[in-house]
Amino acid sequence: MTAVVLGIETSCDETGIGIVRGRELLANEIASSVDEHARFGGVVPEVASRAHLEAMVPALERACASAGLRLSDVDAIAVTAGPGLVGSLIVGVAAAKALGVGLGVPVYGVNHLTGHVVVDELQHGPLADPTIGLLVSGGHSSLLLVSDDTSSVTALGQTLDDAAGEAFDKVARLLGLPFPGGPAIDAAARDGDPTAIAFPRGLAGERDRYPYDFSFSGLKTAVARWVTARQRSGETVPVADVAASVQEAIADVLTDRLVAACRDTGAGHAVLGGGVAANSRLRAMAAARCERAGIELRVPRPGLCTDNGAMVAAVGARLVAAGVPASGLDFPATSTLAVGTRVVGGER
Ligand code: KG4
Ligand code: ZN
Repeated sequence: MTAVVLGIETSCDETGIGIVRGRELLANEIASSVDEHARFGGVVPEVASRAHLEAMVPALERACASAGLRLSDVDAIAVTAGPGLVGSLIVGVAAAKALGVGLGVPVYGVNHLTGHVVVDELQHGPLADPTIGLLVSGGHSSLLLVSDDTSSVTALGQTLDDAAGEAFDKVARLLGLPFPGGPAIDAAARDGDPTAIAFPRGLAGERDRYPYDFSFSGLKTAVARWVTARQRSGETVPVADVAASVQEAIADVLTDRLVAACRDTGAGHAVLGGGVAANSRLRAMAAARCERAGIELRVPRPGLCTDNGAMVAAVGARLVAAGVPASGLDFPATSTLAVGTRVVGGER
């Protein structure tokens, strides 16, 4: 019988509980503390940890109810062991271990970043081997080679400075848009002209040296300069045009590198993941460029792109199916867990 896996996600400001049976998604409950952070313009770690504590049991109950299951039906537990905010991770890891002991089921400490890439299996079925994953979130931007069914991923490249989501959030702040900035820029950009301002494409001239890497700090500085110059001269800042132009620059760089990685590795399949993959322009541009290059692109629905428990359960389901040993009960929460670390604490 296919295992029922409960996934717990608490790496940032979303408490996510997902339940899957193999690749079948049974529940995906999310409690977000984003409103509590908004007035600070960013996630406040201590506030996030406390919110996870309060949300954990109700979210578990809601997930079981919406899956029509009891906790005793769960065969294995997967939890984000990193990367993320350590105080937040600890809440999820402790909950997973307690449930593991209480229910007598194995616990897998898994990599949040892998979850962002493999979550698409819950929507579109098994990933092709090999697939190039473009992972773009608030803390990470990487191009990953996903090459087998046991959730091992290899980093081909990553951002040299800010993550794509961070760039969206910082630019939104400059424009006086609310936090989190990505959705706000996406919305503002709808009324703007993406060709209004030619913002820099980071590392554009350095393809040879950085074929699959990104850089967004120059973009952020360019936007700051552009906006400040307008403000100094008393002109109104055309928020929609700036938002559309910034979004265009970010989507351009990301999709350019994605297509290059597919072409160079011969991978005919690509998948997007992470909160920024919810961006409408990135989705459209990736679809158009991949189609032109003969690459089959898969993009999970926006609710599976941002942090959630189902993505963690999806990694757990792969590990269980592949017979990978569980983590035991002494694995740590690791805020800096590297891309490619498959399961924390197992296989020693
Ligand atoms: O993956 P995620 O939910 O959390 C992390 O693991 O970081 O990503 C959050 C990031 C934030 O920076 C947020 O601004 C960005 O994803 N984001 C978006 C959109 N929705 C969320 N960025 C651009 N466009 C969007 N529609
Ligand atoms: Zn994430």
